[in-house]
Amino acid sequence: MNDLSLTILQETPDDVPAIEHLNARTFGPGRFAKTAYRVREEVAHIPELSFTARVGTLLVGSVRLSPILIGEAKALLLGPLTIEPPFRDRGIGQALMARALDEAKGKGHRLVVLVGDEPYYGKAGFRPIPKGQATLDGPVDPARLLVAELVPGAFDGVGGVIRPDWDAQ
Ligand SMILES: CC(C)(COP(=O)(O)OP(=O)(O)OC[C@H]1O[C@@H](n2cnc3c(N)ncnc32)[C@H](O)[C@@H]1OP(=O)(O)O)[C@@H](O)C(=O)NCCC(=O)NCCS
Repeated sequence: MNDLSLTILQETPDDVPAIEHLNARTFGPGRFAKTAYRVREEVAHIPELSFTARVGTLLVGSVRLSPILIGEAKALLLGPLTIEPPFRDRGIGQALMARALDEAKGKGHRLVVLVGDEPYYGKAGFRPIPKGQATLDGPVDPARLLVAELVPGAFDGVGGVIRPDWDAQ
C-alpha cells in the first residue's frame, strides 16, 4: 500500500452504515452469538477511539474500541477489526490498530483487551491473559483472550470478570 493513498480517520456517524455492512459481510450472522460481540452489544463503542481506513473516499477498514471493566479496572475492548478482502495483507489492519491504541494511550487509557489470534495481535503488543486472571461471561478459547498494556505494568494486580462499563457512556 502506497502510504500516500491510505488515510486513517476518526469514525463519524456517516460511516456507520458502511462499517456495519462490512462487518456483516465479514462475520455473517454468527457474529451475534460471539461472546465479545455480546459485550459490545451492551455498550456503545467510543467514536473518538474508533477509526476507519480509506483509500481515496472508499472505506476499506474499521476498528472500534468500547469501554469495559476488568473486575474494577477500566479498560477497552478492541473489535471488530475488519479489512475489505481486496485490501488485506497491505498493513492496513496493523496501521488501524496502531492508531487506535496510540489515541487511547494519549487519552489516558491503560489496558486494551480483545478476543483474537495471538500471532496477528502479538505484533501490536497483545499477549494472552494468564488463564483465569480475567474472564468473559461466555465461551472463549482462553488462548485467544489477549491484553495489551498501554502503560507498562498496567495489568499487574488486575483481574476478574470482563463486562461493559456503562458508566463510561
Ligand atoms: C485479520 C485482518 C483484520 C487483518 O487485516 P490486514 O490488513 O489484512 O492485516 P495486515 O496487512 O496488517 O497484516 C497482514 C499479516 O497478518 C497475517 N495475518 C492475517 N490474519 C491473521 C491471523 N488471523 N493470524 C495470524 N496472522 C494473520 C497475514 O498473513 C499477514 O502476514 P505477513 O505480514 O507475514 O504477510 C483481516 O484479514 C480481516 O478483516 N479478516 C477478517 C476479519 C477478522 O478475522 N478479524 C479479526 C478477528 S480475530
